[in-house]
Amino acid sequence: MGRIEGKVAIVTGAASGIGAGVASRFLAEGASVLAVDRAPAPAPGTDGARFDSLQVDLAQPDAAARIANRCIERFGAIDILANNAGICDYRLLEDTDDATWDRAIAINLTAMFKLCRATAAVMKARGWGRIINTASIMAERPYPSLTAYTASKHAVAGLTKSVAIELGAHGITANYILPGAVLTGITAPLIAADPTLRETYDTMGVVNRMAMPEDIANAFLFLASDEASFITGHGLAVDGGALLKM
Ligand SMILES: NC(=O)c1ccc[n+]([C@@H]2O[C@H](COP(=O)([O-])OP(=O)(O)OC[C@H]3O[C@@H](n4cnc5c(N)ncnc54)[C@H](O)[C@@H]3O)[C@@H](O)[C@H]2O)c1
Repeated sequence: MGRIEGKVAIVTGAASGIGAGVASRFLAEGASVLAVDRAPAPAPGTDGARFDSLQVDLAQPDAAARIANRCIERFGAIDILANNAGICDYRLLEDTDDATWDRAIAINLTAMFKLCRATAAVMKARGWGRIINTASIMAERPYPSLTAYTASKHAVAGLTKSVAIELGAHGITANYILPGAVLTGITAPLIAADPTLRETYDTMGVVNRMAMPEDIANAFLFLASDEASFITGHGLAVDGGALLKM
C-alpha cells in the first residue's frame, strides 16, 4: 500500500522542478495524478492509468474550472490539491512594471485561490481533503529585487490560513510549504548565467547543500497523508535551515 493509495491529486507546475517531483512521488505512493502546467507534462514512469495531464495557462480566467472538471471527469474525485506553479522575476522595486506585478499575483496567488475555491465543494462532499500550497522562505523574509514575488508568497500564507479555518470542520487541511533554494527550472538558469550562485545557494542554510525537488516532494507527501490530519494552517519550511540564518 502506498501512503496516499487511491487518492486523487491535482498538481500544478507539474512539468518541471518541484511539481514534477511531487507528481512522481504521489504516483509512486498510489495516488492518481492530474498534472497541470502551461508546458507539456509527460507521464513519469509507465503507469498511464493513474496519470493524466492538462496543458493550461493558470492565468486564464477559466483555468480553475477546467482543471477541476477534468479531474472529476477523468478520476471521479479530487482529494489533494498541490497548488505549486509559480514564477519568480528578479526586479528592483522601481523596475517592477504593472505587467510584472500583475502576472506574479495572477499566477502565484490568484490561481491558487481559484483552485482552492473550485475544489472545496468536492472535498467537502467527501469529508476529506488536503490543500498544499507552495510558498517560499520569502513568505517570511523579504529579499532584494523580489518585491512582487515576496508579496505574493506572503499572501499565500494568508490565503492558506483562511482556507484552513473555513474548511477544517470538513476534514480538509490546508498548509503551505516554504522551500529554500531548490535546483529547478527557476534556479538552474540563474546558476548557468552565474556559476558562483551555486555556492551561494548551497550555503544558504545549515545543511550545506541546496534542495532537490525530491526534498520538497517528501514534505508534500507527508502533508497529503493521513498522518498529517491534525496539522492545518501551518507553514512548513523545507529550507535546510536557511530561515535560521536570515
Ligand atoms: N526553486 C526554488 O528555489 C524555489 C524556492 C522557493 C519556492 N519555490 C516555488 O516553487 C514553485 C515551483 O517552482 P520550481 O522551482 O519548481 O520552478 P520550475 O520553473 O521548475 O517549475 C514551475 C512550473 O510552473 C509552470 N508554470 C509557471 N507559470 C504557469 C502558468 N501561468 N500556468 C501553468 N503553469 C505555469 C512552469 O511551466 C513550470 O513547469 C513555485 O511556486 C516557486 O515560487 C521555488
